[in-house]
Formats: sequence, structure tokens, C-alpha cells
Amino acid sequence: RKLVGKLTTGCTEFDEMMGGGIDTQAITELYGEFGSGKTQVAHQLAVNVQLPKEQGGLSGSVVIIDTENTFRPERIKQMVEGLSEKYGQEYDPEEFLKHIHVARAYNSNHQILLVDSAMELANELKDSDMPVRLFIVDSLTAHFRAEYIGRGTLADRQQKLNKHLHGLQKCGDLYNASVIVTNQVMSKPDAFFGDPTKPIGGHIVGHTATFRLYLRKSKGDKRIVKLVDSPNLPDGEAIISVTTPGLRD
Ligand code: GTP
Ligand code: MG
Repeated sequence: RKLVGKLTTGCTEFDEMMGGGIDTQAITELYGEFGSGKTQVAHQLAVNVQLPKEQGGLSGSVVIIDTENTFRPERIKQMVEGLSEKYGQEYDPEEFLKHIHVARAYNSNHQILLVDSAMELANELKDSDMPVRLFIVDSLTAHFRAEYIGRGTLADRQQKLNKHLHGLQKCGDLYNASVIVTNQVMSKPDAFFGDPTKPIGGHIVGHTATFRLYLRKSKGDKRIVKLVDSPNLPDGEAIISVTTPGLRD
């Protein structure tokens, strides 16, 4: 069994709460309402994973399964420029973009199939200088939510989601990679979806994800990240800022 790696978020409190960073060989779920910063955190991790170990990275590339068409190369460029600023050395945004492999998922079945393609790519890059060390699914649940409506289909949805998550866990284990999934929750209690602090996908997502992080908006560019569930760390909260050059303390 390989040693668990740690991927920096670029934020001191956030990293400390996670015991040094986002674990490899585990699924970390980011959940929160729209605009809470899930996609921003995902973009920042796609940048940070490429850094060498000394800078908190995993010297690896990333696969993003993008289900809502929210991946923005321009945002990656800003974050890489932010790194140059932070570390006082020149980083090339084009180099970073080259190691971000984005696949659009058009529906939930396609999304599940893309995990196989992601695994094939990870296998091809296994012995390269930039092996895949991060898998992102943003959003994990949007297609499922749109496609499976009503009580009759709920069990089917949960079963599919569960299978999907097991595929992702396998990616993390096989390639010693971190796995990030995002999940939107309602800001207000909802008659159909119920408790706003409970993520869509409910208990199955909850039990399969190893680490669960609840994001919520605070003043201005501040966001509160709450560690809700972890196998080995105490629950806690960290404050981060989403700024133009990226995530900051
Ligand atoms: P949903 O996908 O809708 O559920 O939301 P999310 O949780 O993924 O939110 P997202 O990560 O897209 O956060 C959007 C927020 O991030 C915006 O309201 C801004 O506050 C911030 N943000 C996004 N892009 C930029 C940027 O280029 N510069 C700065 N400074 N902030 C940004
Ligand atoms: Mg998003």
C-alpha cells in the first residue's frame, strides 16, 4: 500500500484542518450552495497538484469531469499568475493548462463512462513525469438530480451514484491520487429536498466520501470551509478568501 499524499489548498488554515492538505487515495466531497466556491476550490487544486512536493503539490496532472461546463482556462491562467506572484518565480500558464485534461459529461451515464476513460489516461501517464494525481468531478450530482426525479427513481439514482463513487475511489487508490467531487445544496429548506445542510445524494454520497467539506459564503470574498466528516481528523472550520490570483488565507 502506497503512502497517502497531501495536496495543498494554498490556504494555511484549510491545510491544517485537513492534516496538511487534501489526502490522496480518498474522496473529498465539497458541498454547499451556488456560489459558495466549490468550482473555485477545484480550479485551485487543479493548479496546485502540478507543483512539486516542496510547494505542497503532487507533481502530477489532473483529470476534470466537467458536467456543468464551468471549467474556465482563463481562471487557471489567473491562478498560475497568482502562483508566480506568491512564490516570486515565473510559472507558465500554458504548461499548467497542458496538464489539465477536461472531459465534458453530457448526462449521468456519460459521466460514469468518463471514469473509465480517465482511468485509461491515468494508466498511459503512469510512468510519465506528470502522472495523474487528481481526479475532479464537478458537479457529481447535477445530472443525477436533473434526470432522476420523484420517489420511484430514487433507489436507482442512489445505486448509480454509489457505483460511480466506487469507480472514483478505485482511481484514487490505483494512482495514489486525490479525488474531489462537488455537490450543490439548497440555501433554504425545501419541501422536496429537505434539510439544506444535507447534500443531494444523501447518505450514500455521505458514506462513500471519505472527507466531507461544507462551504458557505461569508463577508465579501471570504468563505467558510467546515470539515463535517473525516475518518481520522477532528471536525473544524477554516476561513479562506477567493481572490483574483486564487485561494488565499
Ligand atoms: P455552483 O456550481 O453554482 O453550485 O457554485 P460553486 O460553489 O461552484 O461556486 P463557484 O466556485 O463558481 O464560486 C463563484 C464565486 O467565486 C463568485 O461569486 C466569486 O465570488 C468567486 N469568483 C469566481 N471567479 C472569480 C474570479 O475570477 N475572480 C475572483 N476574485 N473571484 C471569483
Ligand atoms: Mg460550480
